[in-house]
Amino acid sequence: MTVSLVTLEHQGAVALVTLSSPNALNPLTHELMTALGNTLQMLDADNQTRAIVVTGSARAFAAGADIQAMAQMTYARAVTENFLADDWQRVSTLRKPVVAAVRGYALGGGCELAMIGDIVVAGDTAVFAQPEIKLGLLPGAGGTQRLPRAVGKSLAMEMNLTGEPITAARALAAGLVSRVVPDADVVNTALTIGESIARHSLPVLMAVKAATSRAFETSLAEGLSYERSAFHGCFALDDQREGCVAFLERRVPHFNHR
Ligand code: HXC
Repeated sequence: MTVSLVTLEHQGAVALVTLSSPNALNPLTHELMTALGNTLQMLDADNQTRAIVVTGSARAFAAGADIQAMAQMTYARAVTENFLADDWQRVSTLRKPVVAAVRGYALGGGCELAMIGDIVVAGDTAVFAQPEIKLGLLPGAGGTQRLPRAVGKSLAMEMNLTGEPITAARALAAGLVSRVVPDADVVNTALTIGESIARHSLPVLMAVKAATSRAFETSLAEGLSYERSAFHGCFALDDQREGCVAFLERRVPHFNHR
């Protein structure tokens, strides 16, 4: 029997990707990460898709990397096989906007996967943690890098050094998530955000994502320089002319994504 670890649905130009491991906690096994990477890379290359929503089960967005596999891992194998590196490279280098819709547990690699989202929507009972320290590990997919950029040093250190969880409300206050909504509304809220994104020009969406991401990767001067170039580049697009003219003609723009 073949089990589909990831399900894919389309709502117009928005793709909904659901982690669907037989274990509703969605441990991030190599098989699940491979299926997720394949799906996300395919969507990133698909001209009909302009926004991607990633969600898990009602119980867990994901409860982290596969502890079964890590219990067997050795240093030599981790280094020579570059353990987890390719899996995570493939899910974290998308050029299209990603909305993470988090219900339940987002622990360890699950929290790190949520942070790959450009926008994170959480259910009101969602729980975020980097509990790797309890396993004799440190976060290996962004917990020491994306988390402090999202929530600041003090809370990131507290989460990484204690392994203790934070609530959705605290995640909202810290800036880890953009919205907290009732659990039952998480996926629809994320899809609505996705639709709001997807009505815009695809090359401009990609430019906005790339430029905004620079804010976390480079100096202010470099980032502003990148932004200026990207802004100037928009004037090469038909969609820039269409957007401005449509405004002046008081009509909805019809973007052709070029
Ligand atoms: C493998 C896992 C798992 C995981 C749970 N299970 N989490 N298997 N990897 N990350 C398995 C359990 O072993 C158990 O299997 C079954 O799922 C149900 O789990 P329970 O613990 O019985 O459920 P519950 O009591 O409801 O507790 C839920 C939970 C807890 C709070 C989410 O399972 C938990 O704390 N899980 C581990 C979370 C964690 O430490 N994550 C970080 C991993 S390290 P059986 O066969 O006994 O039923 C990490 C490193 C990232 O993510 C590095 C870069 C990617």
